[in-house]
Amino acid sequence: MIPTHGNYTGYYKKRAALRLDRFPHFVLSNKIVLDVGANDGHVTTAIAQSFGPRAITGVDIDNSLVDAAWRHRLAVWSQASPDGVPSYFPTSLAHELGPLPVPPADAAGHDKHVFPHNLAFHCADWTKDNIPEDEAGYDTVLALSVTKWIHLNQGDAGLVAFFRKIHRVLHDGGHLILEPQAWESYAKAKRMSEDLKANYQILELMPSDFPGALRDIGFDFDQCLGETGEGGFRRPVDLYVKRTSISTK
Ligand SMILES: C[S@@+](CC[C@H](N)C(=O)[O-])C[C@H]1O[C@@H](n2cnc3c(N)ncnc32)[C@H](O)[C@@H]1O
Repeated sequence: MIPTHGNYTGYYKKRAALRLDRFPHFVLSNKIVLDVGANDGHVTTAIAQSFGPRAITGVDIDNSLVDAAWRHRLAVWSQASPDGVPSYFPTSLAHELGPLPVPPADAAGHDKHVFPHNLAFHCADWTKDNIPEDEAGYDTVLALSVTKWIHLNQGDAGLVAFFRKIHRVLHDGGHLILEPQAWESYAKAKRMSEDLKANYQILELMPSDFPGALRDIGFDFDQCLGETGEGGFRRPVDLYVKRTSISTK
């Protein structure tokens, strides 16, 4: 299958950097978090395990990636020590003996807000469909390396609608961590299909316009959290905050 949504298999074999050092703890720790375009869940799982969110949900349009994300959650859980130290047991152990079952979240000594219970995945085209967690909303939304794919598939209007939906599901003062791909990278991606090529021809909104579009929707730019990645993967990670009605900016 051609990955016209950026739904690459083995993405984290090519892109080793999970960018965790870019994410400030205060937007994740003890927060309700959504990761849109979670792929096979490596970033989402690492956040669930190491940043202590109350709950984090990864959503992806590709069902096979969501299945892989659940498997990754189990593998990471199986490798942790009984008191939660990551990568304590070698991967070979789970290969030989099978993964450790996840006990129910209400079992003695377990807390539903602690890894692995604080982590779930759903399959959805999140631009069009809601997931159950959307109803209560989020403190933080991550949209990492997903804007290009939504933009190429759904055009300027679709991308703006995506930004609006993020604004809608965020609580006042909530944060958006956005990692947009550069315009230069669109040219190669559009070759995947005739539809993407046709959409590419009529795009007017450039990634350099995203800060203005987000401002119009009701976000304030907070700070650039830095750039990560090598070569074509080199991208900025930006932090936005949902303006509250009493904001003076
Ligand atoms: C290039 S990968 C980025 C993965 C991850 N966010 C990261 O940066 O490490 C983009 C992911 O977004 C997903 N995606 C694209 N459009 C989507 C949509 N409308 N709803 C949910 N997921 C989507 C793709 O399936 C793919 O797994």
